[in-house]
Amino acid sequence: MNHTLRRRLSRAAVPLLLLTVLIGPTAPASAAVLPYQDPSLPVPTRVADLLSRMSLDEKLGQMTQAERASATPADVTAYRLGSILSGGGSAPSPNTAASWADMYDNLQRAALATPLAIPMVYGVDAVHGHNNVVGATIFPHNIGLGATGDPALVQQIGRAVAEEVSGTGVDWDFAPCLCVARDDRWGRTYESFGETPDIPAAMTTIITGLQGTALGGPASVLATAKHYIGDGGTTVGDDQGDTQLTEAQLRSVHLPPFQAAVSRGVGSVMISYSSWNGVKLHGNRYLITDVLKGELGFSGFVVSDWNGIDQIDGQSGFTAAEVTASINAGIDMVMVPTAWKTFLTTLKAEVQNGRITLARVDDANRRILTKKFELGLFERPLTDRSYTPTVGGTTHRALARQAVSRSQVLLKNAGGVLPLARDGGKIFVAGRSADNIGYQSGGWTVSWQGGSGAITPGTTILQGIRAAVGSGTTVTYNQRGTGIDGSYRAAIAVVGETPYAEGQGDRTTSMGLDRDDLRTLDTLRKAGVPVIVVLVSGRPLDVAAQLPNWNALLAAWLPGTEGAGVADVLFGAVAPTGKTPMTWMTSLSQQPINAGDGKTPLFPQGFGLTY
Ligand code: GLC
Repeated sequence: MNHTLRRRLSRAAVPLLLLTVLIGPTAPASAAVLPYQDPSLPVPTRVADLLSRMSLDEKLGQMTQAERASATPADVTAYRLGSILSGGGSAPSPNTAASWADMYDNLQRAALATPLAIPMVYGVDAVHGHNNVVGATIFPHNIGLGATGDPALVQQIGRAVAEEVSGTGVDWDFAPCLCVARDDRWGRTYESFGETPDIPAAMTTIITGLQGTALGGPASVLATAKHYIGDGGTTVGDDQGDTQLTEAQLRSVHLPPFQAAVSRGVGSVMISYSSWNGVKLHGNRYLITDVLKGELGFSGFVVSDWNGIDQIDGQSGFTAAEVTASINAGIDMVMVPTAWKTFLTTLKAEVQNGRITLARVDDANRRILTKKFELGLFERPLTDRSYTPTVGGTTHRALARQAVSRSQVLLKNAGGVLPLARDGGKIFVAGRSADNIGYQSGGWTVSWQGGSGAITPGTTILQGIRAAVGSGTTVTYNQRGTGIDGSYRAAIAVVGETPYAEGQGDRTTSMGLDRDDLRTLDTLRKAGVPVIVVLVSGRPLDVAAQLPNWNALLAAWLPGTEGAGVADVLFGAVAPTGKTPMTWMTSLSQQPINAGDGKTPLFPQGFGLTY
């Protein structure tokens, strides 16, 4: 037994026999373990044995995922719930890594208190770090990681995220989003690695980072390829809208990242809210069962999105018909955050009346239980607290800072104004995104929609600038640019978008900077000093009209907590190497605009200057 395994077994594992004694209903200490409890047996053998012992209620419980705020540990035991999730921002109080681990362990012990002691699996959206947890390292959102063009770096980030997630007990990450964002008006554009399938397909290395080369190794976390399929291809970028493509187009643009994910052994796939040619994905048997599970050979399990089955008939809430349609389409686990009791009752009735076969129920259970066995949850069900100190630790923050600097895309640098000298003179910093951890992190940070101000520990871009300059340099900050004059050698304006997530980020009428930012920029311009614009945004913005007044433009995307990575590029500690993963429009009227579509962009996909 190698050191790591011994450490893990000694620290986090509850030895099998002891577990049986502590938890098993009547097993005396001397009882032999049952086949499904024997880790020396092949997983398929363990699954078959366990399945043969399960009641219908136990099988249906495994297919049900409830939100933590709507299910108690007692519910987990009583209803045999197989999974719990935290929706965006749903956290224990206090919101600390240790408190998360305590919460997880309490829920897990409740699952182990069931007759067969089947462990539950806990899911979160750790989409750019363990972003629900205050103090966690927040990495650049996927659009910035796509700009790095570095799959190996992204795999390292996956590993770091897996360690922080494991340190809180959580064992399932609803990431990566492998969406191919084709219309930048979509509010989830920043969750995309790029507008062409090659980039998200390449960045599926994050799955290996999260899961390890096989599930069950140190800090192995189940990854989720989402949202299957075509979420980034809806008409006008309408979140949860309709992707109107031929099958050939759908396969060519949106399927390759999922093929790559399946090849990497991704353990779960989440279904998209969107429709394909008017049919909701959550009820699409051809795409889920025939294509994903059949043609691609996906052997993990399929989970719905949050109340996603409710959308199949276009009405609010779910009906028995929708429950049956989604399960028979191939969804194995349903994310039904609050109405999970009604769901269980409905599901049971649909099985008992034959509209859902027991064979389908058993197939779903086999898939779910296989991943739980492979994750090692039956042997090591509780938090491995040796990883808890990694949450927000210096090693991960250093990696995040490296990712930030590598994600910066230099779009304009007139007269070589960048890099700025570190020493001498005065530098003016302005813009509402300069000194705001919430703004520079974007959505899915501590809360679902993100927030403003010091929402979690980190380094703002302004703090990074102050740390980067030499002692002989004065840095003045004023959000609106008040006080700027010709005595400054340069002005840095950090402007862009305030946080949003999902449909709340959809933009239809404008994609430009708002009035506050434009007013700040105008104040700086009037001072007659070189203006360097740092754009903190989740997508390309409509800035062509203002660009001539700017000496330099740096796309920072949504860098996360390590804002010093932006200063590293501004002052030349790191030369910019980022390439925009999205075609940059000359105006809103060009959307959607993508590589190869014949339109003339302001900056083409793959553009980026260096020093
Ligand atoms: C959300 C998102 C999905 C997320 C899920 C759970 O609505 O669409 O990406 O994983 O719900 O938070």
